[in-house]
Amino acid sequence: MRDYSEQILSGEGKDDYARYMRTDELLSLQRRPDEVVHRDELLFQVVHQSTELWLKLASSELETATGLVTARELDPAIELLRRATLGVVLVTEQLDMMRFLSPWDFQTIRTILGHGSGADSPGWRAVQRHGRQLGRAHAALVEERGTDLAELYRSGVASADHRLVEAMVAWDEQVSLWRVRHFKMMTRIIGHDVIGTQGTPVDVLAKLIEYKFFPELWRVRTELTDTGPMGKYHLAESV
Ligand code: HEM
Repeated sequence: MRDYSEQILSGEGKDDYARYMRTDELLSLQRRPDEVVHRDELLFQVVHQSTELWLKLASSELETATGLVTARELDPAIELLRRATLGVVLVTEQLDMMRFLSPWDFQTIRTILGHGSGADSPGWRAVQRHGRQLGRAHAALVEERGTDLAELYRSGVASADHRLVEAMVAWDEQVSLWRVRHFKMMTRIIGHDVIGTQGTPVDVLAKLIEYKFFPELWRVRTELTDTGPMGKYHLAESV
């Protein structure tokens, strides 16, 4: 009979879980209680470090999805894009933990951050890069197929092309929602009219909320409104 108490993997760690998950290394990546200037450094590091892990997964899925769009394998691309979006949903939700960080306590933590900033997050940079690559891969698909995006929406058929653009919009929207959440969290902690550890005025980040990976997928919505049953419905014409 199999002895399940026996550890059978090689590598560091007292059991197979530790050896495969590398828990010893992972759990040594946060500053120890005797090193911290404030006990909430653990909260601060755990939120940031776990964000990096989710973004590592999200950018990997996004990169593969982009390759699949280029290979015209849209269904598996859509699946991976949805995973990437869920990764950004999860990192958006975990910003809630920052509600427990008091603005005054953060002033102490801030003293040991140097010029370190989430703006240099490798995960965030990777999702930005792969998001833009996906935009280019999709533009090539639209060009090759001669797709009229407005017609794609009007046809209402749940084709792979239609599901792909909706998955892309969900991604684009979720990155923006992360920025909204980060902006509110950040100003709740350090206020307005101040600069970050990297010298960026916090209010500049509000402008990035409007950044779009796939502007054509947002423009087409305006086109649908203009050509819909109610006709042109622009602000200028309503006054
Ligand atoms: C006390 C909490 C936080 C404050 C006060 C804060 C503040 C800031 C500021 C001021 C910037 C602009 C760059 C700079 O000068 O630093 C920034 C950017 C950024 N931060 Fe945070 N942050 C906080 C927490 C977080 C957390 C938990 C994450 C998640 C890992 C994060 C990720 C980012 C990212 C990705 C950017 C670039 C934003 C963009 O491209 O729109 N920050 N943050």
